[in-house]
Amino acid sequence: MRFQAPRGTFDILPEEQKYWERIRSTVKQIVTAYGFLCIDTPIFENSQLFMRGTGLFTDIVQKEMYTFRTKGGDYLVLRPEFTPGIVRAYIEHGMKSWPQPIKLFSIGPVFRHEKPQAGRFRQFHQFNLEIIGEGGALNDVLLIQLVFLIFKKLGIKGFTLQINSIGCSQCRPDYRKLLIDYYRKQRKKLCRHCQERLKLNPLRLLDCKEEKCRQLANNAPQVIDHLCEECHAHFKEVLESLDELGLPYILNFHLVRGLDYYTKTVFEFRLEGQNPIELAGGGRYDGLVELLGGKPTPAVGVAGGIERAISALKSQDVKVGQESSPRIFLVQLGELSRRRSLKLFEELRNKGLKVAEALGKDSIKSQLKVADKLGADIALILGQREALENSIIIRDMKSGAQETVPIERVVKEIKRRLK
Ligand code: HAM
Repeated sequence: MRFQAPRGTFDILPEEQKYWERIRSTVKQIVTAYGFLCIDTPIFENSQLFMRGTGLFTDIVQKEMYTFRTKGGDYLVLRPEFTPGIVRAYIEHGMKSWPQPIKLFSIGPVFRHEKPQAGRFRQFHQFNLEIIGEGGALNDVLLIQLVFLIFKKLGIKGFTLQINSIGCSQCRPDYRKLLIDYYRKQRKKLCRHCQERLKLNPLRLLDCKEEKCRQLANNAPQVIDHLCEECHAHFKEVLESLDELGLPYILNFHLVRGLDYYTKTVFEFRLEGQNPIELAGGGRYDGLVELLGGKPTPAVGVAGGIERAISALKSQDVKVGQESSPRIFLVQLGELSRRRSLKLFEELRNKGLKVAEALGKDSIKSQLKVADKLGADIALILGQREALENSIIIRDMKSGAQETVPIERVVKEIKRRLK
C-alpha cells in the first residue's frame, strides 16, 4: 500500500519553505510594529464553540467541520477558523482587565471539509488578526491598512478591497424582514441553495454566484439604506478614514460574508481576474464576546489565506529569496526620541531599509549589544538632543566611528554606506 497525503492537504517541502517564511516574517514584522501580540490557541476546540460562534446555519458548521468524539465522550472540532477560539481565550484569561484594546495575531492551520480545488484546501493556513475591546471605526481601518501593508510588502499586485456594512442587532432584523419579503415573492426564480438559505440565512442570498440569483440581488433592498444612525456614522467614518489614508476601496452592497458573528463593517481583499480569488476577509463582530459568555465587548478582525498569497506571489513571478539579517539598528534614548523613532522607523521601512530596534530596552549599551548580536552594520542613535535638533548619529558598528547628520539626510547617507 502506498500512502498519500489526505485529499485536500499537502506537504510543504523544503524548497517551498522560503515562501512560508517570507509570509510569516512579513506579517510578524508589520503587525508587531503596530503592537500586536502573538497568541496560539489549540488546533481543536469544543464543537459548541463554533456552533455558537461561527453560527449554526453557516456553511462551515453545516457542512465543513471535522468533528470527532473523544474517548471521554466530548465532541471536539479541528478549528475551521481562529476567531471563536481567540475570543474563548480572551474570556478565559480575563483579558478584559488588561489595557484595552487587545491586539492579537496568530498564524497556523485551519481545517474545512470543502471540495478541494485550485486554491481551496481542507487543511490550509491563515494569518489572523483581532482587535478586541474597542468599538471605534479606526480599529477597522487599522486592520485594513495592515492587510494593505502586508500584501504590498510581499509584492502582490492587482488586488482590490471590497467593503460593506451589514448593520447591527438594532437595524439588521428589520432589514432581514424586508429582504425575506422581497425574496419570497421571487422564490421560484431562486437557485436550489438560495431557496434553502431563504429560511435560515437570508443575507447570504445577496452573494450567491448563480446568474439568476445575481440579477435578483441587484434589485433587492440594500442594507446601506436601512442602517441605524450609529451603524451609518460608523461606516461613514471608516470610509472617510480610508480616503484620508489613500487606501482605495470598492463599495460592494452584496458583500455579506459567510460567518454569523459579523456586525457593521465587513470587507474582503480579492485578486481580480477571470475567477476572482479571495485573499483575505474580515469584519467587526461586536456581539461575539457576549455570545460566548463574556461581557459585551466590541471587536474586529481579519484573516488572510497563506496558500492564496503564495499562489499570487508565484503567478506574479515575485522572486522570494532567503531572508537576510537587518543591516541597520535603531537606538533610541529618552521619551521624546522613542516617540520620534517610531515615525523614523516607519519612514526607513517604507524606503525599503530593513531596520531592527529594541524599543523595550532603555540603555544605549544594551541596545548596542542587541545590534551587535544581530550583525547590524550601522546603528542609528536618536538621543534627546538629536530628537530636539532633528539630527541623528550614524555609528559604524565595526569601527565605532560616529557622525551626526540632519535627519532628512539619513536615508541617503545610509544607502551610500551600505552600497
Ligand atoms: P474566511 O473568509 O472564512 O474568514 O477566511 C479567511 C481567508 O482564508 C479567506 O479570505 C481565504 O483567503 C482563506 N481560505 C478560506 N477557505 C479556504 C480554503 N478552503 N483553502 C484555502 N484558503 C482558504 C475567517 O476565517 C474569519 N475568521 C476572519 C476573521 C477574523 N473575521 C474576524 N476575525
